[in-house]
Amino acid sequence: MYGISTVKDLSFPNNSAMPLLTTQETNKEIIPREGSTTDQQSSSAILQLRSVTKTYTNGCHALVDVNLEVKQKEFLFITGPSGSGKSTLLKLFYGEELATQGEVIVDDCNIAALRGDRLSLLRRRIGIVFQDYKLIPQRTVAENVTFVLQAQGYTKKEIQRRLEPTLKLVGLLSKANSFPDQLSGGEQQRVSIARAIVGTPPLLLADEPTGNLDPDNSWQVMQILQKLNTFGATVIVTTHDEQLVRRCNHPVVQVRNGKLYYK
Ligand SMILES: Nc1ncnc2c1ncn2[C@@H]1O[C@H](COP(=O)(O)OP(=O)(O)OP(=O)(O)O)[C@@H](O)[C@H]1O
Ligand SMILES: [Mg+2]
Repeated sequence: MYGISTVKDLSFPNNSAMPLLTTQETNKEIIPREGSTTDQQSSSAILQLRSVTKTYTNGCHALVDVNLEVKQKEFLFITGPSGSGKSTLLKLFYGEELATQGEVIVDDCNIAALRGDRLSLLRRRIGIVFQDYKLIPQRTVAENVTFVLQAQGYTKKEIQRRLEPTLKLVGLLSKANSFPDQLSGGEQQRVSIARAIVGTPPLLLADEPTGNLDPDNSWQVMQILQKLNTFGATVIVTTHDEQLVRRCNHPVVQVRNGKLYYK
């Protein structure tokens, strides 16, 4: 589980080769640092985009020649107008979409080169919180949280060991046997967070996790995500909520016209 004793579980091994990136001035496009080469080591990077362009099959240029490096244990916000490419970025990170050009490197692996089992193994190390929750209506909270672990072959004992502290962390222990339609929107969102973190992934991607929530619930969700970050997970959150971003004081990357900028 996440916690002091298991922080090591959350760390990727020493890895990564990637051009160093810089954002010398605020609100500047993120560009490779001058003189960097793809051979330079950046051992603390968990995620890297190298000159990535994403053009959808309908010709839509979602991202154009973008670079990004996210370090282990970083907490990063991704903001930008609707349709700017925030979800596309996250989908590139977990291999749901492939880059048209350039490289997406996660945990030292070029994601485009991974197939079958190797891609599944990498995805086990990435927790994903979907904006629309994606809960299974016929299953209880506990079942929704644990079914991925069952599919991955975890023992019953291990699943039980993980379930309780995870539900506790998101404040849903008393709702373990409830069904999704018996929960509020904020509670459902927290179930989706529990499902994303129960496997203790070192990388957590959350796509507008507060998009449908009121300010109190949004803040509660942010506190959970920040807590996971303090336990050692790298957390990347897309959001429209400028107020929330200001309140948290984490680095912010803005997606605009297919490019990435540090704010
Ligand atoms: N599967 C797809 N096929 C074609 N175009 C797509 C596809 N998915 C996204 N797009 C387009 O790519 C662009 C970026 O979309 P994306 O969903 O990444 O934006 P977003 O920043 O997440 O928007 P929102 O804030 O509304 O969720 C948009 O112009 C969108 O229409
Ligand atoms: Mg989106």
